[in-house]
Amino acid sequence: MRPSVEAIGGLALVVGAIALVIFIAVEATLIYSAWHYRASRMPGPAPQIAGNSRLEIVWTAVPAVILVVLFVLMTGTMREIGASVAGGGTPAGMRILARGYQWWWEYRYPSSSGEVVLANELHIPVSTAVDLDLESADVVHSYWIPGLGGKTDMIPGRTNHLRLYASRTGTFTGQCAEFCGVEHAWMRLTVVAEPRADFDRWLAAQSAPRTAPTGAGAAGERVFTSNLCVSCHSIRGTGAKGEAGPDLTHVGSRTTLAAGVLKNDAAAMRAWLADPQRYKPGALMPRVPLGDAELDALVSYLEGLK
Ligand code: CUA
Repeated sequence: MRPSVEAIGGLALVVGAIALVIFIAVEATLIYSAWHYRASRMPGPAPQIAGNSRLEIVWTAVPAVILVVLFVLMTGTMREIGASVAGGGTPAGMRILARGYQWWWEYRYPSSSGEVVLANELHIPVSTAVDLDLESADVVHSYWIPGLGGKTDMIPGRTNHLRLYASRTGTFTGQCAEFCGVEHAWMRLTVVAEPRADFDRWLAAQSAPRTAPTGAGAAGERVFTSNLCVSCHSIRGTGAKGEAGPDLTHVGSRTTLAAGVLKNDAAAMRAWLADPQRYKPGALMPRVPLGDAELDALVSYLEGLK
């Protein structure tokens, strides 16, 4: 199968080519007529002609034929895309639940041990059809990775479907495409398409509970579990089971924080934890009052959760 973006892109090229031919024909006729029938060559009022059945039939039939051709091409493309979504067509290699939140993304992967909940960074195997079930936890979001598939809304109370297909490896980026509140711009999408073996390794690592911390990390885990953090975040392997915010079991392995606001490193993590509202005003993440030593330990813990 080919990605739906390629089907849509191919159709757009055909439609564009037809439109270009029409444009050139119309403009050429216009320029020729303006020049050929100019007043200096043909003074006086133009001859008045009414009714020409042959011409009228032609200019009705030609656009009708063009529309029929476009209709057939379009329904063919729609059938191709539709077959790839929710039943029919090539069976999906994988089905993942994607859920929009103000303002981040949750992913639920099927795994042998049930379901693995991850956040913000989607990995998919290359050359494999991946079906996303799209849901929203709050308001309407829209899931859009231009290089991988069409734009599809995430609507509270219903499940939409989108098929992604990466024909090459690489990192694909996208963006929430439906205004969903003040931090709409910071709902960035990152998708890593990688060879099956790399993907399997990644999913196995992400499915595991958190690596037990040592040293400063162990102190950091105590800071985490004894503060407000646990009411919103989960870290598998600890008592933290909150569901309002992103799962943090492997937060250290992600490339960004806060769905794209900050590059994920220790300095950024510390700055983010010290004052989330400075970087993402309006986000549900509050500022948890922590001392410097506690912050350092927490940063060391979270960055260690690879
Ligand atoms: Cu979510 Cu815009």
